[in-house]
Amino acid sequence: MELKSFSVAELRARPGRKWHMYGEDVLPAWIAEMDFLVAEPIQRALEQLAERASYGYEEGTLSPALAEAFAGRMRGRFGWEVDTETVVPVSDLVQALFACVCAFTKPGDNVVLQMPIYPPFQHAVRETGRRIANHPLVNDASRYAMDTARQVPDAPMLLLCNPHNPTGRVFERHELEAIGRTVVERDMVVVSDEIHADMTYAGAKHVPFASLGPEVAARTVTITSATKAFNIPGLRCGLMHFGSPALRDRFRATVPDRMLGTVNQFGLKATIVAWQECDPWLDRVMALLQENRARLTQFLRSELPRVGYHEPEATYLAWLDFRRLELAQPQRFFLEHARVALNDGADFGTQGQGHARLNFATSPAILDEILRHLRDALLNRE
Ligand SMILES: Cc1ncc(COP(=O)(O)O)c(C=O)c1O
Repeated sequence: MELKSFSVAELRARPGRKWHMYGEDVLPAWIAEMDFLVAEPIQRALEQLAERASYGYEEGTLSPALAEAFAGRMRGRFGWEVDTETVVPVSDLVQALFACVCAFTKPGDNVVLQMPIYPPFQHAVRETGRRIANHPLVNDASRYAMDTARQVPDAPMLLLCNPHNPTGRVFERHELEAIGRTVVERDMVVVSDEIHADMTYAGAKHVPFASLGPEVAARTVTITSATKAFNIPGLRCGLMHFGSPALRDRFRATVPDRMLGTVNQFGLKATIVAWQECDPWLDRVMALLQENRARLTQFLRSELPRVGYHEPEATYLAWLDFRRLELAQPQRFFLEHARVALNDGADFGTQGQGHARLNFATSPAILDEILRHLRDALLNRE
């Protein structure tokens, strides 16, 4: 089956934040969501639930089925064996980040982030009264890498993002192992957000952090969902996997299960179907994204060579460095002059000043239009 990507007119006629946050003449390339129709098995499963108009308490079978679907996927894609008993559904990953910070640290504690970083990581630290301790990624001219020679700041917890948003890095085993050694030596807790793991491009291999070994696993909460790869973030379903029963008990002692609420049956069902039946759809998405990534790379090289950029190794977000163009606030500039909405790099931490994040998960035609608008805005300014 063909992958259905929508036209601009169709996208504007659909509900949702991506296309309605800014003016009706703005092309949105910001929030991490794709302009493609959801996989058919997911749509069918949701319609079947709705047709029966069955909105009572569900039988309790879907949460165990979610844990099984997760275990099957981790085994199949990454060769990682997980314990289904330590899986806890959550409605979204940002909720899981906040809950873990509260459970494993105290107000005033340091929490290590590898900046630039997806803004809710910073919110989960600051809004709970903790402090950000930065262990910045380094831009080594070919990519952003973990600075394994630099000491990890002293802290009880590290929030890892792998694959990394916004740089698109898929960390290599040796980078993860370096962090893993520190975590074990200092007995830290790691929350590893692996939401983009299903979206790696050829040549990059995702290694689940907790798969590095039992000592690392015992200190790792892996958080993930099907919402990015299968484009269902509005269904609000994700999970936490605790790498040992003791870690799960430690969490529960501060955040009892009921504080997390329970996940709705639509989200649970869609996630299970996504993970078990929708890989042919995901393969089509990745093929198109790979083409779009090549288009973007080619365009930047030939038309905007002063924009700093490394091809992402996973997912559909491009981290663009505009500092050589001396744009004080690129996001604002492009919104005003190109009528394109990007994410403001400054929201990703001080390392993000002068940068913006571009979402290229749209049709090639719309991507071309976005890129033309960016280029023309720059040309008209010069
Ligand atoms: C790394 C990362 N974590 C979490 C999320 C958001 O997940 P949720 O909608 O489940 O809170 C995103 C969304 O873009 C993301 O990129």
